Amino acid sequence: MYKKLKRKWNKILFVLSEFVTNIFNLGKSSLDYELNSEHFKDIFDRSKKKVDSDKIVFGFWKELSENAKKENRPLYVLAPMADVTDVAFRHMLNKYGKPDVTWTEFVSANGLMSEGREHLKRDLEYKEEERPIVAQLFTSEEKNMEGAARLCTELGFDGIDINMGCPDKTIEKQGAGSKMITTPEIAKEVIMAAQRGAIRKNKITGEIEAVPVSVKTRIGWNKVEWQSWLPQILECNIPVLTVHLRTRKELSMVPAHYEYIDDIYNMVKSISPKTLLIINGDIKSLGHADELYSKYAFDGAMIGRAVFGKPWLFDKEKTLKENDYSLEEKLRIMIEHTKLFEEKLGDIKSFSIMKKHYKAYVNGFDGAKELRNKLFESKNAKEAENTVNNFLKSVDL
Ligand SMILES: Cc1cc2nc3c(=O)[nH]c(=O)nc-3n(C[C@H](O)[C@H](O)[C@H](O)COP(=O)(O)O)c2cc1C
Repeated sequence: MYKKLKRKWNKILFVLSEFVTNIFNLGKSSLDYELNSEHFKDIFDRSKKKVDSDKIVFGFWKELSENAKKENRPLYVLAPMADVTDVAFRHMLNKYGKPDVTWTEFVSANGLMSEGREHLKRDLEYKEEERPIVAQLFTSEEKNMEGAARLCTELGFDGIDINMGCPDKTIEKQGAGSKMITTPEIAKEVIMAAQRGAIRKNKITGEIEAVPVSVKTRIGWNKVEWQSWLPQILECNIPVLTVHLRTRKELSMVPAHYEYIDDIYNMVKSISPKTLLIINGDIKSLGHADELYSKYAFDGAMIGRAVFGKPWLFDKEKTLKENDYSLEEKLRIMIEHTKLFEEKLGDIKSFSIMKKHYKAYVNGFDGAKELRNKLFESKNAKEAENTVNNFLKSVDL
């Protein structure tokens, strides 16, 4: 009797779970899944240890990289930076010097799949002018990665990138970020989950299209181990691999290891000939990226900290000049940035985030330290603007 009841109960549970799954899957045609699993099946030929490049999803990367090659230059891309490359700063970058590709700051896929999703979705706000734009996600949970990749794909992102390099302890505790370097099997499952999720119906043609899924990582965890680590992720048919040329242990405390670039490039191309290699670490300007390009083999240069206080960094003409903008112009740009931050994020983010930017904008001129200190005291854009106006009145420019 008890067994019979239990069987009945299990059956009810099964029907219920099928029902709930179907509700969540509404809008996803079975075709989506067929195309995706079919597409990524057996691209990597184990006997040859090689990827069938023609089946990799490149999306927007293809034309972009071909054009950069024709111009004999690397792709210039913006690094994802938490609490820096937010919607306000991305807008400034786009206005004053557009990178070839923009990255969002990283967003928790677990969070996007939780009830707090609406709050986190604000980090994924972008403007059409920012395209092509890539959403960066992190998690070690396959299901959440699949769901978050699907969400980002539906939000219209041109690409999805997976963070496998962040050394932050709270991220590593979740098994994500650079911790993935120590768990390649999980890393591979997470990449494949993102590929399953990164599928949508083209709004114009109605056709099913896959969105490219890339990975950003480091050359190792506690030691240099790219020789064994990178092949594992290259097996997963990724169109783009970004390598921050330091180990997790090195954080950003030592100079980036440019000496590995050529060997990494050769290895990438021998396993997955069409995968693009983007290098990252200590690149100061587009001129610096070009200089590296003339010395080493790679496809793209990712620039991070050098954009602090310089939203015009990706404008080659401006940055080639000694004095790109006058001091007054720079301070006005800083205030424009501050106002945008307040407008877009003032309700959810602390105004103190702007201090990081002030440190970089207000530098290298007489009275910079005093102005910076006053700006640090401001609690909103109006106060910051008054401080700048008073400063400009007080100096002879
Ligand atoms: C404030 C800050 C936030 C960062 N946030 C992220 C992030 O969200 N995702 C990521 O992949 N890397 C992140 N990084 C690392 C950068 O993308 C980049 O790999 C690193 O800064 C090295 O490049 P750079 O020398 O050009 O700055 C962050 C770095 C900084 C300084």
